Amino acid sequence: MTQENLATKMDVNAIIEKWKNVSGSLVMMLHSVQDQYGYVPRELAMEIAQKANIPLARIYEVLTFYHFFKLTPPAKYQVAVCTGTACYLKGAPDLLKEIENVIGIKEGEHSLDGKYSVNSVRCIGCCGLAPVVSVNGKIYGQVKPADIKSILRESTKGEEHHG
Ligand code: FES
Repeated sequence: MTQENLATKMDVNAIIEKWKNVSGSLVMMLHSVQDQYGYVPRELAMEIAQKANIPLARIYEVLTFYHFFKLTPPAKYQVAVCTGTACYLKGAPDLLKEIENVIGIKEGEHSLDGKYSVNSVRCIGCCGLAPVVSVNGKIYGQVKPADIKSILRESTKGEEHHG
């Protein structure tokens, strides 16, 4: 599916109709958009503003207040470093540093080419494997800074399509 015309793929009128009389309706409308696209494209935020008669500034206030909302498309490779207590004590900060060295972005950032995002996450329940890194949900345990390059190489290779 291409994304060249987001507005025609999502029926903004239907979303507004569905939520307009509900309290917290703006948040629910934005959730519907993010459910579909994985983020809230500016084009659709503008369409909601216009059709629901809500100032665009108000929409962006909500979008930036709730960290849940994303304003950019999800990166192709989503790197997460667990910074729960066990992982933190076993070197998660060094892993974040090494990731920054290797791909040039810090925790909470998104590479400009849309390829990588890096986030820290709370305990993901594999403390026995601390420190833990995941790439697109695949878990790597007992990670050392020296492993980061090969983990990234391996995960990007896994997404190649053969044939
Ligand atoms: S603290 Fe990292 S998995 Fe539990």
